[in-house]
Amino acid sequence: MSIEGSAVTYTEYGTDIPKLLHTTNFKINPDAIKSNQILLKALATPLNPADLSQLRGGYNDSPDIQLGTEPNKEKKPLHVGGNEGVYKVVKSGSDASQFKEGDLVIPKLPSFGTWRSYAIAEADNLINVNGLTVEQAATISINPATAYQLLNNYISDWKSGDYVIQNSGTSQVSRYVSQLGKLRGIKTISVVRDGKSQQEIDELKQFGAEHVISHSEFNDENFDISKYTKGGNVRLALNGSCDSTVANLVKSLSNKGQLVSYGFLGGADIKYSAQQQFAKDLITRRFWLTANTYADPQGKVDTIKHLVELYGTGKIKDVPYNKLHYKQGGSEEISKELLQGLSNFKNGKGKQVLFYD
Ligand SMILES: NC(=O)c1ccc[n+]([C@@H]2O[C@H](COP(=O)([O-])OP(=O)(O)OC[C@H]3O[C@@H](n4cnc5c(N)ncnc54)[C@H](OP(=O)(O)O)[C@@H]3O)[C@@H](O)[C@H]2O)c1
Repeated sequence: MSIEGSAVTYTEYGTDIPKLLHTTNFKINPDAIKSNQILLKALATPLNPADLSQLRGGYNDSPDIQLGTEPNKEKKPLHVGGNEGVYKVVKSGSDASQFKEGDLVIPKLPSFGTWRSYAIAEADNLINVNGLTVEQAATISINPATAYQLLNNYISDWKSGDYVIQNSGTSQVSRYVSQLGKLRGIKTISVVRDGKSQQEIDELKQFGAEHVISHSEFNDENFDISKYTKGGNVRLALNGSCDSTVANLVKSLSNKGQLVSYGFLGGADIKYSAQQQFAKDLITRRFWLTANTYADPQGKVDTIKHLVELYGTGKIKDVPYNKLHYKQGGSEEISKELLQGLSNFKNGKGKQVLFYD
């Protein structure tokens, strides 16, 4: 019997996202799965800022994806949104028996087109994440992996008591940075936008932040980081927003510190003092998980393995996010649910994850 699936698709790139995205329904005949293929049922697929950049085009462009076991009916290349998600194995082909029915899996490479209720994948593009909860598995691939690589890819000789300073201190990425840092004895200073409540600040500290500083305090011309570090070494500054705090992140770095930029929700430029760069011999880098994953897929698998272990042993905990629900064959189309998530995200309600009932 064939399976009915639905996907959030687009055939053109652009900025008017509600107009771009459509629902495409498709059918999968489980008997037509090839020997190296796996049939997957979606459990949860997030909406990340990078998914929106992808829809605009020119950033990790999405391939044409065949949705069902028959070729797509559309004449134009059909793109499926989403880069992250968790699936349950429904059926494995005879040459893909390393994956068993019921296994939890995530895509290894970006541009999988995760916003679909069913998918057919090849075994070598899947990572087994059995042992995680669905909530953890849904979002392990991007934010925790980014935090893990940000802490590990640039400084190899961390010493207990060293500092990392980061803007976007409320973000998902930064909450994983604080947790992972603390496990290694690295102290995190998180800079957050003004207006956060004491409860929000306390929550960031529960996720491991040593200090939480508001933009106004941090950007004051008399601000001096040694008030917090007491002479400790600030070796890494993580710039997740390219906003007004970058100059002071750089000012806060110790000699030979590194500024690593990985997001630009707050601005298009990175500006800081050349004098600081010269005086302290700073290194500036960009981080892009997508590029790292294409360049070194095994590195991504290893990152996920470490994180699965840390979740499994309770050394890191999930960062909460907002859940949306989609029911195959229900009253709401999958693209409408996803657009609701987009609207929530734009209204400051944080990370959105679509769960498949
Ligand atoms: N380079 C990579 O490989 C990579 C991987 C993962 C994520 N990222 C990027 O990392 C960033 C964080 O991702 P996430 O999923 O962790 O995000 P998230 O949980 O949705 O958090 C977004 C963060 O950005 C802040 N923010 C939003 N608009 C801003 C603005 N106009 N000016 C300054 N700050 C602003 C938010 O502050 P408030 O709480 O005050 O709203 C919050 O701290 C995003 O830019 C994302 O694209 C990059």
